Amino acid sequence: KAYVVTVDGPSGAGKGTLSNMLADAYKWHFLDSGAIYRVLAIAAIHHKIALDDIHGLQPLANGLDVTFSVTDKGNRVILEGEDVSDDIRSEEVGSTASQIASIPMIREALLKRQRAFAQLPGLVADGRDMGTVVFPEAVAKIFLTASAQSRAQRRYEQLKAMGQDVKIACLLMDIQARDERDLNRATAPLVAAKYALEIDSTALGIAQVFEIAKA
Ligand code: CDP
Repeated sequence: KAYVVTVDGPSGAGKGTLSNMLADAYKWHFLDSGAIYRVLAIAAIHHKIALDDIHGLQPLANGLDVTFSVTDKGNRVILEGEDVSDDIRSEEVGSTASQIASIPMIREALLKRQRAFAQLPGLVADGRDMGTVVFPEAVAKIFLTASAQSRAQRRYEQLKAMGQDVKIACLLMDIQARDERDLNRATAPLVAAKYALEIDSTALGIAQVFEIAKA
């Protein structure tokens, strides 16, 4: 059976970077569960399905034609044959994903798809509910946090590097709105799993976080 290590935490805490580093170090698979929610958001936008149209969204979630591949251009995400790796990173898609993620039926529909990533030799799974809901049997669970201010700052730098110019104040408001939804939704609200190792990355560089997590 494949080992699973989970990395959960709020928006922009650095989970993706840490998870990728761990997966590289162990030579394990990597699941970016947020990307699945983001791809579903793009699919909903493409197919013009409203965010409150549960009966339109559910079959879309069940039949979502998405593949993740590791290439020399990094991790690529393909939706219905089209490379959407860059498109899914926009703020609009992130915000849509966060709204869709609050629908219990949608989370349920995506469970099996996420669990299928647990392949030998192991998996590092990045998200909000990896340790609590999707992989409760994980061998190690990490809960990565940071202050909202420093997460907004990091998100700003990320977006800027991708050529998107967004005001920090807007990003902070957006992060707070996402925290609010992640923490207060009825299904799988964001909490640290039992026995999770909590790391606050506010004052730590990624290399330091990696050293703590790896141990
Ligand atoms: O970190 P950020 O919010 O920018 O994005 P993400 O990790 O790519 O996830 C996109 C959205 O999907 C988040 O805002 C979460 O609300 C949601 N999500 C979730 O509900 N459960 C997960 N396991 C992963 C993401």
